[in-house]
Amino acid sequence: MEFAIALDPKSNLPLHRQLYEAFRQLILSGQLSPKQRLPSTRALASSLAISRTTVTQCYEQLISEGYLQAVRSSGTFVCAQLPDDLLHSVPLQELQPSQSSSKALSFSSYGASLTNDTPLHSPRLELPISFRYGQPDLDAFPLNQWRQLLSRHCRKRDRLMLDYATDSLGHLPLREAIARYLVQSRAVQCNADQILIVSGSQQALDLVSRVLIDRSDGVALEDPGYLGAQHIFLAQGARLYPLPVDSSGVVVEALWKESSHRIKLVYVTPSHQFPTGVVLSLSRRLELLAWAEQVEALIVEDDYDSEYRYEGRPIPALQGLDQTGSVIYIGTFSKVLFPSLRVGYLVVPPKLIEVFARAKWLTDRQSPLLEQYVLTDFINEGHLERHIRRMRSLYNQRQKTLVKALLHSFGDQVTILGESAGMHLMVRLSTPMSDEVVISRAAAMGVGLVSARRYYLENRYSGEFILGYADLRESEIEAGVKMLATALIN
Ligand SMILES: Cc1ncc(COP(=O)(O)O)c(C=O)c1O
Repeated sequence: MEFAIALDPKSNLPLHRQLYEAFRQLILSGQLSPKQRLPSTRALASSLAISRTTVTQCYEQLISEGYLQAVRSSGTFVCAQLPDDLLHSVPLQELQPSQSSSKALSFSSYGASLTNDTPLHSPRLELPISFRYGQPDLDAFPLNQWRQLLSRHCRKRDRLMLDYATDSLGHLPLREAIARYLVQSRAVQCNADQILIVSGSQQALDLVSRVLIDRSDGVALEDPGYLGAQHIFLAQGARLYPLPVDSSGVVVEALWKESSHRIKLVYVTPSHQFPTGVVLSLSRRLELLAWAEQVEALIVEDDYDSEYRYEGRPIPALQGLDQTGSVIYIGTFSKVLFPSLRVGYLVVPPKLIEVFARAKWLTDRQSPLLEQYVLTDFINEGHLERHIRRMRSLYNQRQKTLVKALLHSFGDQVTILGESAGMHLMVRLSTPMSDEVVISRAAAMGVGLVSARRYYLENRYSGEFILGYADLRESEIEAGVKMLATALIN
């Protein structure tokens, strides 16, 4: 069967993603029916005049998400039963009025760039033992303390707290408290006037892309890297340039190779590269800053979980080394407090603060004030520091337990990355099984883990998994690894 799929080599979306999107639409719209056989990768590649690797990447992604099924020595088929959440999600074109409606909706270029690939919800691994990453231990959060501070402010009945704020930058005492914290703990060079309170890192990234990125502008990102950032820049129509990551962090040299293109911005996670956990070396940091200065590009430093460092001295933020105002720094309270708080911050070079404050006003005027008042007290009265200290020791212990259990069960079949910091590890398993098989075998034992493959823009490697440990008790970690070993080692 021939597939008339239009692929655009000039699109910002890589070919394998375009192909993936086309097949997903065919499946969801019923044009490809359950159990229908797909052409072989060789046949499809030749009929569409693209490489076989592109087709393989597309098929692998669809298999990992449950749209397709590979049957050994028979071929690739549409799954008989699609995963529930896929059936509930509405394909974009279904959001448009039906033929009978008088007016067809056409999306803006931003709206049109929101494909089924753009996240719709934050998926949970609802399994008895889930190595979910990025999840702090919510049971350990001092909710009583938070409640007392909340009621203190509610009792005061401060009208200002309930009114529109006079500026969109955020509550000044909170910005001052964050500035003190960043100068002291992260060696960030800043004062309160450079800080903008936002609704988590995600809004910080959204503002960065709105303010700085036009369609077709070049944005370089770590590969593998954070999907939250990839999607924001893609939605803005940016051209993405993947930068490889090695044991010293992002390979800055690769940026020089792209110098014929106009790269306007580089997004990096230097303290704890997501997801590999590698720390960007000092020489690479200096190289990156020198590159940005020379080509007049900006660097976005996402310092999402740097508070959790277990080895050596704290590594100062990249922003602290910047002499030329090239770094925009992003921090969040999602990991050190709790994600639903939705409070993060941007530290921007002084020349950019006004435009960011205007963009924030247009987006949502300001972040909620009550939470900002409470958070200010939480920081100034020492609760934040105490909580971080407690969590650091708890997570360190959990990480040690995970490493020990992995080495005990998998021996030389496992390579562990990112032990020096954070709330997750990346592991390389030497196994002949595909990632999908690993995940489904683990799930059958009640253990959830995530393949790292979807975080790659290019060269997707198999056998790499992300294991979050912050929200698991030591006994759960040990039991989970044991079950993984039973599921994976014959
Ligand atoms: C690299 C990275 N940045 C930022 C965040 C946090 O985002 P937010 O502040 O929007 O909750 C995460 C969450 O997992 C992350 O992995």
